[in-house]
Amino acid sequence: MPRKVAFYGKGGIGKSTTQQNTAAAMAYFYDQEIFIHGCDPKADCTRLILGGKPQETPMDMLREKGAEKITNDAVIRREFRDIQCVESGEPCGWMQLSFLTLKPLMRR
Ligand SMILES: Nc1ncnc2c1ncn2[C@@H]1O[C@H](COP(=O)(O)OP(=O)(O)OP(=O)(O)O)[C@@H](O)[C@H]1O
Ligand SMILES: [Mg+2]
Repeated sequence: MPRKVAFYGKGGIGKSTTQQNTAAAMAYFYDQEIFIHGCDPKADCTRLILGGKPQETPMDMLREKGAEKITNDAVIRREFRDIQCVESGEPCGWMQLSFLTLKPLMRR
């Protein structure tokens, strides 16, 4: 049974760091399948998992390449332990993605 865990709170309290360390530990020590969905414009919710570089967000793709380029393969990146990473780029984008592009994936 999949579980959804949210890390939230005021700025700078360690949400992104704690979340990524938790995800990495769950994947490494417990062999869990992990999907991280960040919604900060800084795209800092997946950067540690992806080796330090902020990933391109679907909101960037939407603005620069058009909606037809937004596919799961285009927005989801995997590095450490095959953890799936998405940064929607903004909270509104998070809503949009949840209900459209990523809904089938997130249902699993
Ligand atoms: N447990 C910790 N001990 C010491 N420093 C920490 C710890 N967790 C995070 N930090 C440091 O605190 C700073 C803020 O952490 P982080 O970016 O994870 O916070 P955040 O809540 O995601 O911030 P934001 O709201 O800006 O996204 C970073 O420099 C990070 O390295
Ligand atoms: Mg953060």
